Amino acid sequence: MTSRIPFVGGNWKMNLMRREVGELVRGVSSAVADSRVECAVYPSFVYLPDAIAAASAGLSVGGQDCSDELRGAFTGQVSAGMLKDIGCSSVLIGHSERRHGLGESDALISRKLGRALDAAVMPVLCVGETLAHRESGVAHAIIESQLRASLAGHSEAALARLVIAYEPVWAIGTGRTASADDASEAHDTIRRTLAVLYTARFSEAIRVIYGGSVTAKNAADLFSREAIDGGLIGGASLVAADFAQIIAAASARVRR
Ligand code: PGA
Repeated sequence: MTSRIPFVGGNWKMNLMRREVGELVRGVSSAVADSRVECAVYPSFVYLPDAIAAASAGLSVGGQDCSDELRGAFTGQVSAGMLKDIGCSSVLIGHSERRHGLGESDALISRKLGRALDAAVMPVLCVGETLAHRESGVAHAIIESQLRASLAGHSEAALARLVIAYEPVWAIGTGRTASADDASEAHDTIRRTLAVLYTARFSEAIRVIYGGSVTAKNAADLFSREAIDGGLIGGASLVAADFAQIIAAASARVRR
């Protein structure tokens, strides 16, 4: 097995009120304590300080998005520097609910990635094809083109802490998980693309995680694959017991 440390993220999207955020952060903190994974949760912006205050040292907290701008007259936006300032260590960039729901382009995502890197906030870059792409046989070409466009202009040295989340759009929140074979193949495409854009060493070092209807039941199968370094979890990360099982499944990747 690989020496890459597994990464598990809980994307809480626009769910949970303040009290629930505190409770869940405490539950996840204890699950992470006996694990060998890096784990981060992504609450709504307004609850980030509450989550940071409640998190144990082993659990990090990140933003669900950041602005492509540094500062200024951008109503409603949150900068990567602000995330860093309050103690966030990572940020989701290019989640499909922003790419497809809000029309974010690869060019915008690439600029956001640059802001995260400049602010020293670890980017979790999301890529993934739609059902139409997969059914027409272009899934891998789409993943490659999203990667090429999002990473354009960013150097290997700057991207040293990058995490890539492969999240097929048709699997997000649908209960329809990619098979471990399909996810593995997509991860191989991502690694091949990174090796072409940068170096083989970089492509081997970067963590590529899977997201899309990961559950306490299917996590162990997905994470048993060499290519799958963990997961980005939506629905199942809202239930402490389920998320704890997913963290344990990722932790099992690490040799004792
Ligand atoms: P899901 O969401 O686990 O609910 O499918 C994953 C994600 O959006 O990151």
